[in-house]
Amino acid sequence: MTKPNKPQNMYDNPDFLAGYSTLERFGEGWEKAGERDDLLGLLPDVTGLRVLDLGCGAGQLSRYLAEQGAASVVGVDLSEKMLALAREKWAHPSVTYQRDALETAAFQPASFDLVVSSLAFHYVEDYAALVSRIADWLTPGGVLVYSTEHPIFTGRLPGDGWVSGDDGPRWAVDRYATEELREENWFVDGVRKAHRTFATFINGLVDAGLAVERVIEPVASEQWIKDHPDWPDEWRRPTFLLVRARKS
Ligand SMILES: C[S@@+](CC[C@H](N)C(=O)[O-])C[C@H]1O[C@@H](n2cnc3c(N)ncnc32)[C@H](O)[C@@H]1O
Repeated sequence: MTKPNKPQNMYDNPDFLAGYSTLERFGEGWEKAGERDDLLGLLPDVTGLRVLDLGCGAGQLSRYLAEQGAASVVGVDLSEKMLALAREKWAHPSVTYQRDALETAAFQPASFDLVVSSLAFHYVEDYAALVSRIADWLTPGGVLVYSTEHPIFTGRLPGDGWVSGDDGPRWAVDRYATEELREENWFVDGVRKAHRTFATFINGLVDAGLAVERVIEPVASEQWIKDHPDWPDEWRRPTFLLVRARKS
């Protein structure tokens, strides 16, 4: 059996973080993130819930959930720099931030009513193991809501994925069924993300005993394209996949 790769802590790389922090969605800008409304729309009423936020980053979602009335929120992230931002700018009395990898974090069975994760699962190589542990941490009836990079996005041709077509760019997917860590240049070389198929995302939940309740594959709206003239082709493919699943 091949040894699993060590989780990559790219967000503590100063050059990567300098680039990442220029994104519109960084910091206060998280309210402008294109998939945000869809993600929040998948959440149950969080009043009184014990919540776990996996890959919490700078903590915007963790604090938002606390402000919405969650009883407690535990935000877990591998990056010390992201957690430092979370503790400084997105603190809340009901939120605890803790440093750990998604691959090694450990909690008591049935200790959370809701597990959320915004755009972190595509950094984790062993998805089946992760969702099986999440299922164990959830109470019966508990909910998992996550967003991740879409398989059509992670499965692109090496490079930026665009090829030219007769009337404009086309998005090209290559070796879709080959599930592996793929390296890309995103602000720096060597950023590692896991590519896996849509079937793997869904079947992993089913195998972990979680019932899939909703799946969303948002694409950029006409308004978003108008507001972002440098990104005219974002409507051509989904960048993210959003899922809600429930433990029976
Ligand atoms: C794209 S950011 C998303 C942050 C935040 N959830 C949001 O939506 O703004 C991905 C986050 O996942 C964290 N991360 C990546 N791989 C991780 C791992 N293996 N374990 C824990 N956190 C990880 C990164 O440090 C980073 O903060």
